[in-house]
Amino acid sequence: MTVVVLLGAPGAGKGTQAPVLADELGVPVLASGDLLRAAVANGTALGREADRYMSRGQLVPDETIVRVFLDRLEQPDAKSGAILDGFPRTEVQAEALDRALAEAGRRVDRTIFIDVPVEELVERMANRRICTANGHVYNLASNRPKSDSVCDVDGSPLVQRPDDREETVRARMNEQIPPLLEVVEHYRNQGIIQHVDGREPISNVSARLVRALGVAPGQVST
Ligand code: AP5
Repeated sequence: MTVVVLLGAPGAGKGTQAPVLADELGVPVLASGDLLRAAVANGTALGREADRYMSRGQLVPDETIVRVFLDRLEQPDAKSGAILDGFPRTEVQAEALDRALAEAGRRVDRTIFIDVPVEELVERMANRRICTANGHVYNLASNRPKSDSVCDVDGSPLVQRPDDREETVRARMNEQIPPLLEVVEHYRNQGIIQHVDGREPISNVSARLVRALGVAPGQVST
């Protein structure tokens, strides 16, 4: 069983890279943003609550996301492990995850922080497009689809995420980076975090992440 937490600011490349690590380890990706967007799309009570925060670039309250995410982590497909994308994002969430895993005799095995400067993140998100059917991620500058409006993989329309408008992106950075840094510190104190430079082209970052998986936790991998 391997639980890997993939950390990074909004737009750092977690969603792009998580499937690479999942393939490497043969475990599923559990992405908190995808869980919340599905709830919004389905118009559930969770979705209506989450949308109020997501549309303003704010974090969904800890008690809500902890309940939803830990419930997802208990599903049978995650019994052999998972790549966690977007959770935990606050110290409270990190502690709740530690407790839930400990109760099941499990633990976070390692954490990888994808490090990218804020200005580059803002530009990345302005150019991001996602497919409406399965959330495949593209970038009009660095990872172009064959057509700007159609997904290469499943042919569905490509759209901009509502929270990728510049004013919301700035709010996300301001609201979400400080608690993220506390989570980085949380795992640094446990000696299980590695930093990977996320500024390079996508395939180079993938190679660095896979290499980081092979290095003992806490050692510098790149
Ligand atoms: P979520 O969906 O998790 O958004 P995020 O963390 O803000 O991350 P993003 O999806 O924006 O970025 P990413 O790191 O996955 O980057 P990507 O690979 O797409 O959360 C959305 C919202 O839900 C939050 O704002 C919050 O409201 C709520 N929420 C979620 N989890 C929560 C939690 N735990 N607690 C409370 N609230 C929560 O890449 C970005 C772009 O860059 C793409 O276009 C990609 O093609 C491109 N790109 C990727 N890598 C590179 C590279 N190396 N070089 C150049 N371009 C690249």
